[in-house]
Amino acid sequence: MCGINSMKLGPPIEVFAVNKAYLDDTHPDKVNLSIGAYRTDEGKPWVLPVVRKTELQLANDETLNHEYLPVLGLEAFSSAATSMLLGADHSAILEGRAFGVQTLSGTGALRVGAEFLARQLGYKTFYFSQPTWENHRLVFLNSGFTEPREYRYWDANNRTLDLNGFLEDLQGAPENSVIILHACAHNPTGCDPTHEQWEKIAQVIEEKKLFPFFDSAYQGFASGELEKDAWAVRYFASRGLEMVCAQSFAKNFGLYNERVGNITVILKDKQDLIPVKSQLTLTVRGMYSNPPNHGGRIVATVLNNPQLYDEKESIRTMANRILSMRSGLKERLQRLGTPGTWDHITSQIGMFSYTGLSPRQVEHLVNNYHIYLLKSGRINMCGISTKNIDYVAKAINETVLL
Ligand code: LMR
Repeated sequence: MCGINSMKLGPPIEVFAVNKAYLDDTHPDKVNLSIGAYRTDEGKPWVLPVVRKTELQLANDETLNHEYLPVLGLEAFSSAATSMLLGADHSAILEGRAFGVQTLSGTGALRVGAEFLARQLGYKTFYFSQPTWENHRLVFLNSGFTEPREYRYWDANNRTLDLNGFLEDLQGAPENSVIILHACAHNPTGCDPTHEQWEKIAQVIEEKKLFPFFDSAYQGFASGELEKDAWAVRYFASRGLEMVCAQSFAKNFGLYNERVGNITVILKDKQDLIPVKSQLTLTVRGMYSNPPNHGGRIVATVLNNPQLYDEKESIRTMANRILSMRSGLKERLQRLGTPGTWDHITSQIGMFSYTGLSPRQVEHLVNNYHIYLLKSGRINMCGISTKNIDYVAKAINETVLL
């Protein structure tokens, strides 16, 4: 037993610590390229027009109240989220083998899924990409997994996917290992497998009897198209694999603090659905009893109403702004003659770019230019705007030249 007086300080959570350092900085030219949140070209958070409209409509709907939701959440939400992920006509849905559970954003979905796999089904080993989102490890360990392992993913020298390393590590994984896969817009590298590469990955996962656990935090953000960004998940499901997928609606609906998520469960056999649902009900009941209403209601209202479902337009607005900042930054670095190749800035997709800047260069950017980014060199492209892009490019150039 450890007394409260002998408690050691926990390590800071880098992304929140860097974000706070930015907020505390009073320098007029400061730039925040840290936490993964969308910003407009004015550097402001954006409430999507369709979300604003839906919130007003819900506020005036006197049939709504603040009663508890069911343990597994709003059915209208979880079924719409599952259809958005798989496509409404996916065989897993049509055959009644897929369902969703509303969760506390993507992190909550990871937690519910991981806890279910560890505690109900006895899975112990999980693999995450090297590098990955820093929270995957903690969520899985806290859920009852005991064997954390990494698979190779990023080839830092060539700034590309290390497919051979990835496949080799999967080949060596013990049966029943859970493999965390980023559905699209890999965080932090922004580098996704191609369709052909996904096919090879699925092949090994199937042969080796591994369990795919997708994390889909950016559907729509990578390409601006919901369908395109769900390709890998849909492909795996179409191979008949049993799998789960954690979905976040933080980014694609801009609902960061509403904690709207879903875990889609895809089974091989329809008859397993009812018992699996009942066990998941106990997992959730013992964790937070039932989810909050507001965000899930917004997403359900939008996804179930074809007229409101101009959501895609807002997704495209966000995706296109990111794409133009990517090409703008690359062009500027090339024009300045910044040593190194910068093609990866436009070949990577989604919210983040893995710049290849070293920890010392990152420190230099923070201390001398008030540009805040993660030690790994990851930058949130949404923090770049037409107002600060020249400043950021010049700062990177001067830092690399040192
Ligand atoms: C990020 O990667 O910056 C976001 O997903 C925020 C977080 O919780 O880490």
